[in-house]
Amino acid sequence: MIAIGCDHAGVELKKIIIDTLKEKGFEFNDMGTDGEPCDYPDMAEKVCGEVTSGKAEKGILICGTGIGMSIAANKINGIRAALCADSFSTKFTRLHNDSNVMCMGARTMGPGLACELAEIFLTTPFEGGRHKRRVDLITAIENKN
Ligand code: RB5
Repeated sequence: MIAIGCDHAGVELKKIIIDTLKEKGFEFNDMGTDGEPCDYPDMAEKVCGEVTSGKAEKGILICGTGIGMSIAANKINGIRAALCADSFSTKFTRLHNDSNVMCMGARTMGPGLACELAEIFLTTPFEGGRHKRRVDLITAIENKN
């Protein structure tokens, strides 16, 4: 199950991502917004809660730029959110950072690229090994602060 949410800027793109990836077998919990204006930090907290509780395997957050969502999401313990705008970074944030939330900007990219990046994010495994130690160091920073 993938938790997905957006603010008012991301409604159309969110629908396209859900429709496109559902056809490829992915299942979504659409947490809104369906059009009502909403504040992106509230949506980030909602979607990330599904991930940290284990109800969702990963999360997708969409706002105008993806930046507000990523800043908010990364405040939550256990969340490693990546702002994704190209395929290389999207692939490597999964391989090396074990990112569990992807953020995208509805005003900065087209739907074709966004769907492609979402599929890369959802299908690329974490490489582990030396990267596990680095991810653990991120967790240690969280625990200290
Ligand atoms: C909303 O207008 C806009 O500020 C928001 O979608 C996002 O881009 C914030 O980072």
